[in-house]
Amino acid sequence: MKVLGIVGSLRKGGNTEFAVQSALKSAQDLGADVEEICLTDYKIYPCDGCGKCKTAVCHLDDGMKKLLPKIAEADALIIGSPVYYGGISGGLKCLLDRCRPLKLQGNQLSGKIGGAIAVGKVWGHANVIDTILHFFGSQGMIAVPIKSNPGIGAQIIATKYGDAEKDINGIKAVQELGKQIVENTIRLKEDK
Ligand SMILES: Cc1cc2nc3c(=O)[nH]c(=O)nc-3n(C[C@H](O)[C@H](O)[C@H](O)COP(=O)(O)O)c2cc1C
Repeated sequence: MKVLGIVGSLRKGGNTEFAVQSALKSAQDLGADVEEICLTDYKIYPCDGCGKCKTAVCHLDDGMKKLLPKIAEADALIIGSPVYYGGISGGLKCLLDRCRPLKLQGNQLSGKIGGAIAVGKVWGHANVIDTILHFFGSQGMIAVPIKSNPGIGAQIIATKYGDAEKDINGIKAVQELGKQIVENTIRLKEDK
């Protein structure tokens, strides 16, 4: 089982990376192969809406050429974003929009498992999780719940470097998310 974690912050070693890594570690402890993708390592242009990805390879020549196969091959995705003005980061939005070929060319993510993580100082986590859940839903994916939380997705309260490590409840939630990712992916494979 391959679990791909996407760090939607351009701040290397920041709170979002810590959160995604914590979820991946939890999945790895249960036997998953894990890989982390950081936006800092890839140049990603915004989608220009040309619509050619319905049938052809995207004309934008950038990091998505490497990322799309990785995302398509994963059994499950963990997507984390910092809260920016109550929404996801611009970098992550570019990546999610550019995943359109995966939907239009054979619904390649359909039936796969997803987990959403929001990391912010005080406000807007729910909007971030909603946006990521919309992506999962549009792609035909299944989002995992956090049993200890009333909703779907995990949130961490953090702002300065290192803050995320101090949010005990947030860490518990992302660890639980990693566990749910593995358990649900196994269940899905057994059902097939
Ligand atoms: C442009 C910008 C907008 C932000 N907007 C919000 C916000 O609306 N709500 C919030 O709680 N935190 C907000 N923050 C704080 C970040 O979410 C917080 O610092 C987070 O820990 C950053 O994650 P990182 O360490 O992975 O970069 C904002 C930060 C930046 C740089």
